[in-house]
Amino acid sequence: MKRTHHCNELRPEHVGQTVTLCGWVHSRRDLGGVIFVDVRDREGRTQVVFDPSDLPAAVFHRAETLRSESVVRVTGGVRRRPEGTDNPKIATGQVEVLARELEVLNLADPLPFQIDEPEAAARVGEEIRLKYRYLDLRRPEMLRNLRLRSRVAAAVRRYFDDLGFLEVETPILFKSTPEGAREFLVPNRREPGTAYALPQSPQQFKQILMVAGIERYYQLARCFRDEDQRADRQLEFTQIDVEMSFVDREDIYAVIEGLLQRVWQVALGRDIPTPFPRLRFEEALNRFGTDKPDTRFGLELADFTDEFRHSPFKVFSGAVAAGGVVKALNAKGLAGATQGQIQAMTDIAYGFGAKGLAFIKVEGGEWKSPIVKFFGEAEKAALTAKLGIEEGDLILFAAGEWQTSCEILGKIRLYAADLLKQQGRLNLPADRFDFRWVVDFPLGSFDREQNRWSSSHHPFTAPVVEDIPLLTTDPKRVRGQHYDVVVNGVELGGGSIRIHQPDVQKTVFEEVLQIPPDIARARFGYLLEAFRYGAPPHGGIALGFDRLIAILCGTPSIRDVIAFPKTAKGTCLMTESPGLIEPWQLRELHLELRVPRREPAPDGAAKS
Ligand code: AMO
Ligand code: AMP
Repeated sequence: MKRTHHCNELRPEHVGQTVTLCGWVHSRRDLGGVIFVDVRDREGRTQVVFDPSDLPAAVFHRAETLRSESVVRVTGGVRRRPEGTDNPKIATGQVEVLARELEVLNLADPLPFQIDEPEAAARVGEEIRLKYRYLDLRRPEMLRNLRLRSRVAAAVRRYFDDLGFLEVETPILFKSTPEGAREFLVPNRREPGTAYALPQSPQQFKQILMVAGIERYYQLARCFRDEDQRADRQLEFTQIDVEMSFVDREDIYAVIEGLLQRVWQVALGRDIPTPFPRLRFEEALNRFGTDKPDTRFGLELADFTDEFRHSPFKVFSGAVAAGGVVKALNAKGLAGATQGQIQAMTDIAYGFGAKGLAFIKVEGGEWKSPIVKFFGEAEKAALTAKLGIEEGDLILFAAGEWQTSCEILGKIRLYAADLLKQQGRLNLPADRFDFRWVVDFPLGSFDREQNRWSSSHHPFTAPVVEDIPLLTTDPKRVRGQHYDVVVNGVELGGGSIRIHQPDVQKTVFEEVLQIPPDIARARFGYLLEAFRYGAPPHGGIALGFDRLIAILCGTPSIRDVIAFPKTAKGTCLMTESPGLIEPWQLRELHLELRVPRREPAPDGAAKS
């Protein structure tokens, strides 16, 4: 069955040799009775020529009936391509193989989309690509992504191994700790009413590994979160998960900067400068309106709380009187924004519960806005100075609670940047990578979705040492030893120095997170107990591996770097999972459905 060469290998120096290639029929052209077939394997493509004057009729007939993507084995002689027919686009473009034998190992059916046409996949759309993922993955772009993913994974393992880290696998069947995202439950047939949960991350196990004396741990870990799907989120995803003992924040930064430096070198041959600049959480929000700022462009937010404290414009002065802020953003040069674009920006503000979005268009030497009549000269001068207002600018305001107002303008800032990109007025080179450490997060924050006070990161993050006394007096002001690594506006990873003293952990559960003691004990008792038997100070981080690869591949969607991703609805279109379960399976798990069971469709697929 052996091939002699891969389809990327043949060069003029092989001319005259007899070779055997195995692979797929990438394309077939019939030209004046001669058939040209590009045979493709994982490594590349080679042109094979079937000349009827040179071949037994049976062999030529087999070549005539070949369909795209059939699997073949071809034997023939390598020859120089005739003058003027070289194909500089492929590595083997100077030669071709004159076929003598052709074995059709498997004839393919007509395809749902063409592999040899780069636009075909875009045309059929992602659903068809995911249904026929095995065909999609044959496309060079997808193969390139998987290859890069594999190479980076190998480099990551080598890096940590060199530094003396142990890779330890942690359980996938874990227990429910409903603290962060919604979990996936796995009902336990052995004891009715009990269930495992799939881990959202190996967080607790890696901390226990530190108690166990492992000192330096890493894992390419699969994590599961039943969250809404987005381009940068999947139900199951992979983390580069890291934990170290006897370290402080600086040690973690150094290890991760070294890792990313190595990865950029291996993947892109690029040297990224370290150390990464640091940005405090508060400053990130104040300037960029987000804790994961894209620092490649300006359009920064400015604060006008003091200027509008006594303004006759009640929307602003009222917000300040209520303890809030007035923030503004200069969307440089966007005074010409359409009604629809302004509406889209206003909808962003509505999405955060704001009552509106005040704005000013600077056009024809005039500030056009119904609110300008409320502004005095001093306020106008402050706006002009701090925002650098010029003809053609669009100024947007958010007044209200500090973080919400920042976040509204943060989203609008990105929207404005997209408009400027589309208009060719903002160009961000594809090979520019702006890394930041975002630090000094508050330990707890108000979770709007869950409508309660919760950990900014997770409940195991240590408070900043000088803030520990505030834990019992003013827990909302306590900062955590948490850090995120951000690149080009993407949260690549996050971690923290952990609590390792059982009493501090208990205080955080009870005072900061308001978890009743009995619930804390039921959920995390084993961890609190472990901390009593010699827990070293420790800390760590996890990087989103899929996000990392997507950034390196320059694709906006992590689905493009995952072999078998789920759709936005959380389904696998190829295997049609999740699938219906049978009544006997429910019985065995001691479960009962409270809605009528859907019947399988005749073709076996569940209809919804
Ligand atoms: P965190 O929840 O911040 O931290 O996750 C770390 C990183 O994992 C990636 N990530 C995701 N990637 C794809 N799909 C998702 N649904 C998804 N959710 C998260 C992000 C994120 O920055 N145990 C802690 C880490 C620690 O403290 O050491 C944790 O999981 O890139
Ligand atoms: P009103 O006086 O409520 O009609 O609002 C006057 C202007 O202020 C309108 O353009 C509103 O869209 C805008 N506006 C209302 N609430 C806010 C807010 N919280 N931040 C910024 N602008 C607002």
